[in-house]
Amino acid sequence: MSITTKRLFAKGFFSSSTKTIPDVNQLPNHIAIIMDGNGRWARKRFLPRIAGHKRGVEVVRDVVKKCAQLDIKFLTLFAFSSENWRRPEEEVSFLMGLFMDALKREVVKLHENNIRLILIGDRSRFSTELVQQIEASEALTQDNTGLTLTIAANYGGRWDLLQAMNKMIKANSQSAQAFEEEDLTPFLTMHYAPEPDLFIRTGGEKRISNFLLWQLAYTEFYFTDTLWPDFDESSFDQAVISYQQRERRFGRTSEQVTNT
Ligand code: IPE
Ligand code: IPE
Ligand code: MG
Repeated sequence: MSITTKRLFAKGFFSSSTKTIPDVNQLPNHIAIIMDGNGRWARKRFLPRIAGHKRGVEVVRDVVKKCAQLDIKFLTLFAFSSENWRRPEEEVSFLMGLFMDALKREVVKLHENNIRLILIGDRSRFSTELVQQIEASEALTQDNTGLTLTIAANYGGRWDLLQAMNKMIKANSQSAQAFEEEDLTPFLTMHYAPEPDLFIRTGGEKRISNFLLWQLAYTEFYFTDTLWPDFDESSFDQAVISYQQRERRFGRTSEQVTNT
């Protein structure tokens, strides 16, 4: 482990859930969600796709509220992928506007509820106004100790790994030692959070779509056909119940896990 990494470890910056086995009877400490199916939800109702995105924001509000009530510590939501720029310009700009409006409208409420907001993703393509709004929202909520709500926007798992590798190499330029996992993790954008315990994808697709590639290594996956705008409290509960029926082994045998 390099000096830089040791220092970050000492600060308690990150941890790897692959080292210890969390108790699945407890609520997941970190839930990561790919909120998919907004477009199809709208199409089914003969509405424009953007109507689905609008409705999707309401569901975000409900899920955040629920996680805060349950005292879940980390909720990470995939809002816009690095590949979503490939969508029609009209939809992209609507999504950016929606994001901006939601931030402006909700940040005070998040703050009142002791929620810390963090945005991960490449901000370089966002408007100056949006970047300023993001920075102000993060600054306002940075000392909150309740739920940490992470929004992944213009995020890609490969982008994250590459930016982390570049920073790691720069920080360790004097070291001739081979790098270890712990050298990389402090530079990943989610260095402040443990790895997700539960991954949920709505909308029926069974893929990661370039979300948290590194961090999902040992996460429990839950896929549902429910479209994101229909993801209600009972859908959320079903995902958590499914998680609580899993046996997390992290490479060990079932006997080893049940005997500890
Ligand atoms: C997810 O819903 C929201 C974003 C990607 C921004 P989609 O817009 O992907 O909805 P579908 O998959 O087309 O139904
Ligand atoms: C993934 O959804 C990204 C978000 C939910 C923000 P997509 O609907 O864009 O995923 P693919 O491209 O169909 O895999
Ligand atoms: Mg989709």
